[in-house]
Amino acid sequence: MGERGDHGVLEAIGDTPLIRLARVVPEGSAEVWLKFELANPTGSYKDRMALAMIEGAERRGELRPGMTVVEYTGGSTGSSLAFVCAVKGYRLRIVTSDAFATEKLRTMEAFGARLTVLPSEGGMITPGLLPRLITEAERIRDAEGAYWTDQFNNTDSVEGYRRIGDELLAQLPGGVDAFCGGIGTAGMIVGVARALREAGSAARIVALEPAGSPVITTGAGGPHHVEGLGVGFVPPLLALAGQDEVRAIDEREARAMSRRLARDEGVFAGTSTGLNVVGALALAAELGTGRTVVTVACDTGLKYLRGDLFG
Ligand SMILES: Cc1ncc(COP(=O)(O)O)c(C=O)c1O
Repeated sequence: MGERGDHGVLEAIGDTPLIRLARVVPEGSAEVWLKFELANPTGSYKDRMALAMIEGAERRGELRPGMTVVEYTGGSTGSSLAFVCAVKGYRLRIVTSDAFATEKLRTMEAFGARLTVLPSEGGMITPGLLPRLITEAERIRDAEGAYWTDQFNNTDSVEGYRRIGDELLAQLPGGVDAFCGGIGTAGMIVGVARALREAGSAARIVALEPAGSPVITTGAGGPHHVEGLGVGFVPPLLALAGQDEVRAIDEREARAMSRRLARDEGVFAGTSTGLNVVGALALAAELGTGRTVVTVACDTGLKYLRGDLFG
């Protein structure tokens, strides 16, 4: 980014607070800190990657004024892309599904995106869903000569997420002993791991996935409803994370934690954030007092009000 003020509302992306969890962390555990990414303009850390993907394509001349952008998305990446495309004046075509929160589909439309909504199997995220979305996104790319951001293979996103790591290192001068986060595209964990490693941090990097679809830990996919995670295949970017470990987390525990975070900590976030905090609390119990665990509040609970997360 250039001088402050040059980029209008895009300036509001990033520089999120880092908050220490108080009530959900048992005695004898390490400190648990949460990077408060729901403070981004669309309420999700995806704003960082959407901006990085669009500006990366602009820099290389692959995306030019007047062009259309296309992506398949559960709606978080799509909301962020719709926001960035609205600011920069690109048309956006989105391929998504009724498996994902209505709030996200409506948000994308509010920013002016045109949606193709494919039917899911009973509202669940199943291993067959994403391949169908990809095929349709490719069709639109070819038919319209659109720029496909291709979030699962896009390494510009990693640069966007790197800032989360740079910021939290500045916010925690005492250092980080462990960092964990759920895997969708894996862009976030790769970006943060890169920042930590390049700064010489020896933090343990732990990748998390929903136990209902433990593709990374066991090779077997399944249905689940943790939006943004457990996509049914090992995301290509994960090979760049250099994680120390991958753990599967129970979805019921994740959902219960999202509710507890709202009531006991005032952190109103989505299901993947609950999952991240369940993972972080396990690491904090293992590491014990005097150590520091960091994870991420991925997105706002406002995106899930019509579903059963808080019902
Ligand atoms: C709500 C939510 N949480 C977590 C993730 C996972 O992030 P990443 O794709 O960087 O692995 C996503 C990504 O789709 C998401 O939408």
